[in-house]
Amino acid sequence: MSIEYSKASQYFHLKTPSSSYVIAIKKGRYVEHVLWGSRIEEWSGNNDNLAIDRAFAPNPVEGERTFSLDTLSQECAFPGHGDFRVSTIEILMPDGTLVMEPLYAGHRIYAGKPKLEGLPATWTCDDDEADTLEIDLTDRLYGITITLSYTVWKDRDVIARSTRIANNGIKEVSIRKAMSACVDFADSDYRLLQLSGAHCRERGAITRDLFPGNQGIESRRGASSHQQNPFIALLRPGANETTGEVFGFSLVYSGNFSATVDVDQFNSARTMIGLNPHNFAWRLNPGTSFQTPEVVLSRSGSGLGELSRTLHRLFRDRLCRGVHQYKERPIVINSWEAIYFNFDEKKLLELADEASRLGVELFVLDDGWFGKRDSDTTSLGDWTPDRRKLPNGLRDFSQKIKAKNISFGLWVEPEMVSRNSELFRAHPDWPLQVPGRDFSFGRDQLVLDLSRQEVRDYLFDSLSEVFTEAEPDYVKWDMNRHMTEVYSSRLPSGGQQEVSHRYILGLYELLERLNTAFPNILFESCSGGGGRYDPGMLYYMPQTWASDNIDSLNRAHIQFGTSIVYPASTMSCHVSAAPNHQTGRITSLKSRGEIAMAGTFGYELDVTKIDDADKESIKRQIAKYREIRKTVLWGDLYRLQDPVDLETNAESPFAAWMHVSSDGKSAVVTAVRLQAWPNQAPLMLRLSGLDAQGYYFSTLDGMRYRGDELMSFGMKILFQVETEESVQFELKRVAR
Ligand code: DGJ
Repeated sequence: MSIEYSKASQYFHLKTPSSSYVIAIKKGRYVEHVLWGSRIEEWSGNNDNLAIDRAFAPNPVEGERTFSLDTLSQECAFPGHGDFRVSTIEILMPDGTLVMEPLYAGHRIYAGKPKLEGLPATWTCDDDEADTLEIDLTDRLYGITITLSYTVWKDRDVIARSTRIANNGIKEVSIRKAMSACVDFADSDYRLLQLSGAHCRERGAITRDLFPGNQGIESRRGASSHQQNPFIALLRPGANETTGEVFGFSLVYSGNFSATVDVDQFNSARTMIGLNPHNFAWRLNPGTSFQTPEVVLSRSGSGLGELSRTLHRLFRDRLCRGVHQYKERPIVINSWEAIYFNFDEKKLLELADEASRLGVELFVLDDGWFGKRDSDTTSLGDWTPDRRKLPNGLRDFSQKIKAKNISFGLWVEPEMVSRNSELFRAHPDWPLQVPGRDFSFGRDQLVLDLSRQEVRDYLFDSLSEVFTEAEPDYVKWDMNRHMTEVYSSRLPSGGQQEVSHRYILGLYELLERLNTAFPNILFESCSGGGGRYDPGMLYYMPQTWASDNIDSLNRAHIQFGTSIVYPASTMSCHVSAAPNHQTGRITSLKSRGEIAMAGTFGYELDVTKIDDADKESIKRQIAKYREIRKTVLWGDLYRLQDPVDLETNAESPFAAWMHVSSDGKSAVVTAVRLQAWPNQAPLMLRLSGLDAQGYYFSTLDGMRYRGDELMSFGMKILFQVETEESVQFELKRVAR
């Protein structure tokens, strides 16, 4: 069992391979957070918080001035009884207050991990993999039970937490805040790491010191967002890629979220992540319950790199699902930046022909194939092929593509409707909208109200028709605006603050139905690039288009931030044209290819318009990717040179990473020169993840090295001044 319970001392000891997490039941009533740190074999149960009578700290037990909820580290905090820090759960009670006192009422420990009804979550294959602890806290006055759930993996440094709120009373209550987890760190000597940015600039890694007061990140956009990713980490000072203690919080959710750290008067750091309480409330009727999304807690005692690898393995092995989970992902040509809306069937077939000759494995017909969509102002919702462009329909076109020995993929944006569409004309009440108020538009489109069953049914039926007709091997699911006028005509005014969450639950339900009905389709999630790159979406779609920015040097930054949480198999990366369409920058085809090979790989440029030399380069790149694909997708990632210093946020002129195959027999190293200077110093690259005693042949110089030398001295990387933004080489394990 990875969960020990001491009845005598009233504590739980949760053990992962290298961490201990201890929870105590204090005074038989309060659920105290005691410890999350390096693994210890025994917890004495004696190491109590120092009991001091602290000024202005109210005490719930009369006369006992040395005990206060305001100074107790807790697993879940409630308002109203003297804990003045930020609460984890807030419920508007029948008496009109937020005052509640859920006290320990019992617990269960069992093998395995339960499903989270209607929500994406990590899973176990069999009950031997993990154990689960559930602790019940009950507010006796109104019969509200809060269940804290912890699943502890035996061979992963991971604990999955979530919270359920059940109304066993006789009166309706309203949940105002329901965070998935709270961890009260005993001190605040950490730096907060967040992944922040914008459209085309997603997941920039930034760290900052913690200061007294509440701080954090959030999304209020109806999607997890480009601006903030639902992940934070706390890093001990000096922690870097290979050393130091790091604590990660990754929320398995795709909508509004918040992650906060509240540093109190005694420097404890209350850290929480979950549904954003902004514009959220949930009516909880007697006999019903509410389940929060899951948060994955992970700890590393040896730096951020190890934390990332733990998350990568978990998300690859126990979050992604379906037949594509471990299938080698196809090399793509995507029509978007190649030809945008400007195509007919002849042009598409020419593009597919050329791509197929170059060795591409999947042709993706992006936006523009349906309704009358010659621009982004029209036709979303009308999922029937535009006969001007595809005169014989989707099936015929898909068969023509497949006849070229290349698979077929299709783009859709189902959650949206254009005002200029048949769907909007037939159902003007289907988008989110507030009665009596105007719409706000984004890209000339509106958001369909996915909290409504009939809207989801329409989408399921129309998409099923498209998928049955076109038989796509791959579908790119896009979402290109955020939510405004968040109101559903199916709910009373008292239910409107449920809409954002009900939308996401509706989206998950629709995706589950489609996954079940079309198990062979490889789905790729997209939201104007990586605007919904989160673990929630990965449960339904095992890869995500990382960014609309395909400038390779920008991508090195975006892919670095992404790799902190998400595995290479989930990160879709393409080679685009030069000059790049987002930045106007010209980079070499070589570096565009080498940088895009850090994830699932493809091209997004008009390959019919490039010269023969570039065609030959692309053929070589494709052959190379085929050779290293398994290592990249299923191996371990080591970040060797971060483009941004984790301690100072200063930009580095270089970035470098390496993927080591799961059998340790090969590795691929990629180094990028982000800033070019004449007479630039070489990049001294110390490698990682190799067998110290093993021997490796390096394709960089054709020499043989021992692993310890490569990891201690490293390799000197010199970039050719004018032509090279990147250097890539392989290491192959050889006999001594
Ligand atoms: C945004 C996506 O991120 C792009 O890749 C492309 O599919 C466009 N939408 C199409 O409108």
